[in-house]
Amino acid sequence: MRTVRIAASLLAANLGQLEAEVKRMEAAQVDVIHIDVMDGHFVPYFALGADTVQAVRRLTRLPIEVHLMIQQPDRYARTFVEAGADLLIVHLESYHDPKRTISIVQDMGCRCALAINPMTLVEKTYSLLKKADQLLCMSVNPGFMGQPFIIEVLEKVRLAHSYRDKNHLHFDISIDGGVTDETVGPCVTSGANQVVVGRPLFAPKDACDASRLLRARANEVGAGG
Ligand code: DX5
Ligand code: ZN
Repeated sequence: MRTVRIAASLLAANLGQLEAEVKRMEAAQVDVIHIDVMDGHFVPYFALGADTVQAVRRLTRLPIEVHLMIQQPDRYARTFVEAGADLLIVHLESYHDPKRTISIVQDMGCRCALAINPMTLVEKTYSLLKKADQLLCMSVNPGFMGQPFIIEVLEKVRLAHSYRDKNHLHFDISIDGGVTDETVGPCVTSGANQVVVGRPLFAPKDACDASRLLRARANEVGAGG
């Protein structure tokens, strides 16, 4: 049985203690560090940037994925790849040609994911999924942590999963926002093989316990392929 990957969303960390927080996530055996970048245009607030990616790169060997909630991901792709990202996540809704951006990123030797907001139809991504390394379905509106999970998103995950199987494609399916020990099971049964988790991992004192519980709940239902 394949097990779900857990990506820890650094937005929920105590950034004043970046090193300790990254080490806490390593001890909790997360699989990926997820860094949310916000430009104040694509989403209302600003958050994190290439400096944070660079700092985290120096602290860990865990894969780093950078979620670009920005209007012009093509313009800043190189900066984030050079800062140490292993995967760049670009939104279908940003102002760019996603096909071209995916090529730009992959040509630099970095993996590239395509993200969609909760209201965006998954069918709009189909023509790009042959190239993308991952589809990330937002299960909250982008820009804020700690929001409730939008359950309707699971239908899109099911559609993407069956589209992938029918077309013999290999992209990962990740769900971002509102994932808890209660919602992780349905994420996995719908076909996700990765979840992004912010507050439920960082807020508890014992992150090891929190991640163990998430994995246990995911394994109960058996992870998606
Ligand atoms: C939301 C971000 C998420 C967020 C997840 O815009 O993309 O990565 O930090 O946080 P939780 O798990 O608290 O919903
Ligand atoms: Zn994110």
